[in-house]
Amino acid sequence: MRKRYLCAATAAVLTLSLGLLPARAADPITVITNDFESATTQGWTPRGSDLVEVSTAAAHGGSHSLLSTGRAASWEGPVLDLLTTVEAGTRYTFSAWVRMVSGSAQLRMSVERRWQGTPSYDQVAGNTDVTGSGWVQLTGSYTLANDADFLSVYVESAGATGDFYLDDFTLSYVPPTPIQDDIPSLKEVFADDFPIGAAIGRAEILGEHGRLLAKHFNSVTPGNSLKWDATEPSEGSFSFTDADALVDFAKHNNQAIRGHTLVWHQQTPAWVFNDAGGQPMTPTADNKALLLSRLDSHIRAVAGRYSGDISAWDVVNEVIDENQADGLRRSRWFEIAGLDYIRTAFRVAREVAPSAKLFINDYNTNVPSKRDKLFQLVSQLRSDGVPIDGVGHQMHGNVDWPSASETDAMLQKFVPLGVEQQITEMDISIYTNSGESFPTPPADRLARQAERYRALFDVYRQHRAHITSVTLWGLADDNTWLDTFPVTRKDAPLLFDTQLQAKSAYWAIAGTPSPTPTQSGGCRVAYTVNTWTSAPGQGGFTASLTVTNRGQDPIDGWTLRFAFGAGQTVTQGWSANWTQSGANVAATNMSWNAVIPPDQSVQIGFNGTWAGSNPNPDAFWVNNMRC
Ligand code: XIL
Repeated sequence: MRKRYLCAATAAVLTLSLGLLPARAADPITVITNDFESATTQGWTPRGSDLVEVSTAAAHGGSHSLLSTGRAASWEGPVLDLLTTVEAGTRYTFSAWVRMVSGSAQLRMSVERRWQGTPSYDQVAGNTDVTGSGWVQLTGSYTLANDADFLSVYVESAGATGDFYLDDFTLSYVPPTPIQDDIPSLKEVFADDFPIGAAIGRAEILGEHGRLLAKHFNSVTPGNSLKWDATEPSEGSFSFTDADALVDFAKHNNQAIRGHTLVWHQQTPAWVFNDAGGQPMTPTADNKALLLSRLDSHIRAVAGRYSGDISAWDVVNEVIDENQADGLRRSRWFEIAGLDYIRTAFRVAREVAPSAKLFINDYNTNVPSKRDKLFQLVSQLRSDGVPIDGVGHQMHGNVDWPSASETDAMLQKFVPLGVEQQITEMDISIYTNSGESFPTPPADRLARQAERYRALFDVYRQHRAHITSVTLWGLADDNTWLDTFPVTRKDAPLLFDTQLQAKSAYWAIAGTPSPTPTQSGGCRVAYTVNTWTSAPGQGGFTASLTVTNRGQDPIDGWTLRFAFGAGQTVTQGWSANWTQSGANVAATNMSWNAVIPPDQSVQIGFNGTWAGSNPNPDAFWVNNMRC
């Protein structure tokens, strides 16, 4: 028995990079395949006055494709009816191959949904460069989450109206993996700290998504459904269908609701800034009065409707521009109404939703120049009597940023003001610049992401006296705004993966800190472990280690060693180069954490498997010094 372990483990002397798969995703089920080899259009029709026919002049596979010609407008092109094929709540993957007949254009794939005569359009695959010299794949996904009496997928272009071919269209889905019912619920993990929330849309309240949301979160933020473009698309005509559905779900599940957002420079319809004659407003007294009266009516209708239900409102969003001497963003709001738009928004929100806490919300508030401009504005407005209760820190970060210390400084800065603080939109992109793109998230990025989540949540916990809510901007990696921002690529910024399974990032923040570390001399190692069972008597675990230099001098380059007591195996390590030989494990520094100054620590960790039992190692050595 012992020997078997040794052999298996010896084979594992390598830098481990195996992904941890808590549950295996099922194979995709393809519901439509159109290759046009039957010489029919297989249900595809023209969307406008254009023409759609089968062609043998070019093909991606076989000898036939679909040819779209005679397009008089960029929105014309081939369309396929999906109403009876697509089921609500299932996430479908779309794929089509396209090629221009000649020249070049940008093509995209979208879904049109209609309900009782009102259309809405969702992009499935964004603008993609296509030429006449090769086939290009358009692919993306879509979940039907609303009532529909018309549903179709189509390919159109951005601007140009050239002829193009389409071939090998497929529509498929992966049956949902059940969520993990046996892992700690985040709202219980943070029960003594702060409510924990997720930004949601209608897709997040259905099926397994809804179960995941209800299990872990005791706060929700409608991510788009309360914005101006959703609630008052044209003047005086309000629409609350999506917001009502989300609010009902939250109330039913005892979740707090954050309202986002009453005033923003984005997702605000053009009519808001048009003057009485329908022309873009210029900064006149009349236009200012008109704009502020529209703002007043909007807030009365939206915040008033959910008075008593919504406990916190992002009254204004992203009003700071740290590059202006006065720190104020030159939005249409500001150009026409000056600071009065902020004053009016808070005053009216307080009047119609007196029990809601009122927030000013912004991104990059960890950046000192921006933080300080925000501080200045909030101090000024509060001393003028504007009813601002709190500051919202969006906290859109990435695997390397922001640091714990600047996050700590950000929170500390606002403490003397006596305001509440909330983390309102946290996510941690796996990318560090807009040039990167990975088809699937690399293990080392997920590991760095877990460390970033851990470090930032540690800071939040230290500030729990000042933080009244922490919200993630999304529920799971299958639906994140970062898939299209700042560029189109698959991102994975949240705590649950695309199959709704807990990631290392989840374990990094859900872990229960474990007993006192062993110590003596110049080093200390704290070993924290989360263990789970996948079959009787065996399972996996995530271990987090904090290595502290307790000596007088910096440690410059280190190797940590320990031995497993029960045949455990490291399957994936992070923040160090991990090797295992038999029971012996070694972790050597990366270049970026080679130096540990006196009294400082580095945090490293790994995922492992166990069988029988999973005792903690009983001793640790750093550079052959026992800790
Ligand atoms: C994002 C939504 O998540 C997207 O679906 C939408 O297309 C654009 O807006 N800061 C904010 C949020 O305050 O409102 C933004 O939400 C993300 C950045």
